[in-house]
Amino acid sequence: MSLIHDAKIKELISKEAIAQKVIELGQQIKSHYHQSDEPLVLIGVLKGSIIFLADLARAIDLPLEIEMMGVSSYGEATQSSGVVRITQDLVRPIKDKHVLIVEDIFDTGLTLKYLIDNLKAREPKSIKSCTLLKKQTPKQADITMDFVGFTIPNEYVVGYGLDAAERYRNLPMIAIYNPPK
Ligand code: IMP
Ligand code: MG
Repeated sequence: MSLIHDAKIKELISKEAIAQKVIELGQQIKSHYHQSDEPLVLIGVLKGSIIFLADLARAIDLPLEIEMMGVSSYGEATQSSGVVRITQDLVRPIKDKHVLIVEDIFDTGLTLKYLIDNLKAREPKSIKSCTLLKKQTPKQADITMDFVGFTIPNEYVVGYGLDAAERYRNLPMIAIYNPPK
């Protein structure tokens, strides 16, 4: 049994291309924050962003802190339900800190819109967002992503942290997921 040779998936972005992009994002993030005195806090959105976050944090050559937040918008369906809820909250205050939300994928933007509004109320010094993937979904929440890795077609993708019903997160590449009808 092999994950890579699963007939339901087709490679979209190779692991080498991801690694290169993560380095570039790390450099962009460093040049944005390097003159700031306040601490930078990366907030990873569970669970999809964990692998991206682990690589990205090591590509940012600055002192920083890492926090995680659990947000759920999908259940096990592959369509956004529009319902967002916090399944795990931050354990530390972010007041007066620079917050960078780290997301796996921006689809409808509902999750991020909710998160930004929620975190703004805690009075961070600034709040920005970084996503590895941005889908070309027709109707998206009106949010500007500050750092974007790849823009991808409106297909369901898995791998590098992204799942289909909890599977495929450990796939080293990003692949289009096509289950049999
Ligand atoms: P949004 O709120 O519609 O932007 O959806 C954001 C969340 O839905 C992401 O953080 C993912 O967890 C999940 N999601 C959206 N599209 C995909 C996909 O193609 N594959 C896996 N998860 C996805
Ligand atoms: Mg997510």
